Amino acid sequence: MRAFPFETPIAADALIDRRAELHQLHLAATDGAHVRVAGPRRYGKTSLLLAHADGLRQTGWRTVHVDFYGVTSLVEVCGRLVTAYGRLKEPSVRHQLAALGSRLGLSLGTTGMSLTLGPREPQQPSHETALAAAAELLDLPVRLYEKDRVKTLVVFDEFQDLLSAGATLDGLLRSHVQYHGDAATYVYAGSQPSMMRRLFTDRERPLYGQAEPLELGPLPIDEVLPELSDRFAALDQDPGEALAPLVIAAAGHPQRTMLLAHLLHRELVLRESGSSSLPTEGQAALGPDHEPEVATVGGPPLEGLELAEAVVDLALAQTAEAHRANWDQLSAGKKAVLAALADGVRPTGARVTERSGLTRATLQSALRDLAREGQHVSRVVTGPPSSGNWRFVDPLFSRWVLQRGQHR
Ligand SMILES: Nc1ncnc2c1ncn2[C@@H]1O[C@H](COP(=O)(O)OP(=O)(O)OP(=O)(O)O)[C@@H](O)[C@H]1O
Ligand SMILES: [Mg+2]
Repeated sequence: MRAFPFETPIAADALIDRRAELHQLHLAATDGAHVRVAGPRRYGKTSLLLAHADGLRQTGWRTVHVDFYGVTSLVEVCGRLVTAYGRLKEPSVRHQLAALGSRLGLSLGTTGMSLTLGPREPQQPSHETALAAAAELLDLPVRLYEKDRVKTLVVFDEFQDLLSAGATLDGLLRSHVQYHGDAATYVYAGSQPSMMRRLFTDRERPLYGQAEPLELGPLPIDEVLPELSDRFAALDQDPGEALAPLVIAAAGHPQRTMLLAHLLHRELVLRESGSSSLPTEGQAALGPDHEPEVATVGGPPLEGLELAEAVVDLALAQTAEAHRANWDQLSAGKKAVLAALADGVRPTGARVTERSGLTRATLQSALRDLAREGQHVSRVVTGPPSSGNWRFVDPLFSRWVLQRGQHR
């Protein structure tokens, strides 16, 4: 396992902070209340919910984590449910799945989804069969509770994707879970905050008012810095004065924090054997596209603030392609707003209308859309007045926007 994991959801004991969020989730579960967790991509939703599930399991709950990422059909939705329950490895769950399969004439694989009709030829089940399967799978917590009185926590991760499999599937879901009372509590997590809000706060939608909100914000810097210092110390590494500026550069973004810590850690490991992932002092001016794999020639290794800057440049070089893909998808209005924010200029002010040639109304609507979507910008209580209190969700994207075109 990596010392500073940054690619996949992390173990409960590797979480920095999130105590208040875990507490809220725990209280809700014991109250039988459902929660909707929204946060930008890579903000630690899945890690938080895995930790929450760990906690509940220790008090005797059964927990199921269903990932709806990328589902496009009801059959796939059933597949994700089967996969999630299949992971439990409890004989009672296996019996329930087998019984359900034979009742509906389906073979339900527990390692992946194989909804197959008949003994040989795998076929796509009819919509009616898929609906019947979904109904039974959604009611599994009740069947299990009737048998053993063990409550189930059901996490629906990437919940907004459910609607890609069917525009009314939130209605189907609600028609089942609303009767689950003592048997189950639900957590709905999604990485499109605006979509999540709409699903639960639009009176027209079936899940209106069905879950209390929990919005994941950035990690507090004053929690991150001592925690990372301790982790470096436990690894017998001394990042010196480089750590604080790196933590500040990550601005509480959980994945960016860990990515920068990882790159710093890797650099310190390389230095122990006389090599480096970074330019030395003389080469530092080469900029972020210069990414020597393992090379140390010339001057003394960078330290402190310069080391931090070089690590950020390395992270930028590694993530540039994703930033470019994000940027290319944006409208002209959104680009102008983000460019202004990266420059520290009021995004809907006269300077931006002038330099972009766009009207104030266009910029305002672009900013509104960006804010509603919650992927690239979020509101902060404090910040330079020129920014109108908006800031980038991803500090690396902010830097990329500032430097775009310079290192092509
Ligand atoms: N509380 C935390 N403490 C430390 N690192 C964290 C924390 N939360 C998230 N991370 C970092 O962020 C990365 C992504 O976490 P996770 O996959 O849980 O986020 P997510 O919001 O579910 O992402 P996605 O939008 O891709 O589903 C982890 O690999 C880890 O590096
Ligand atoms: Mg996730």
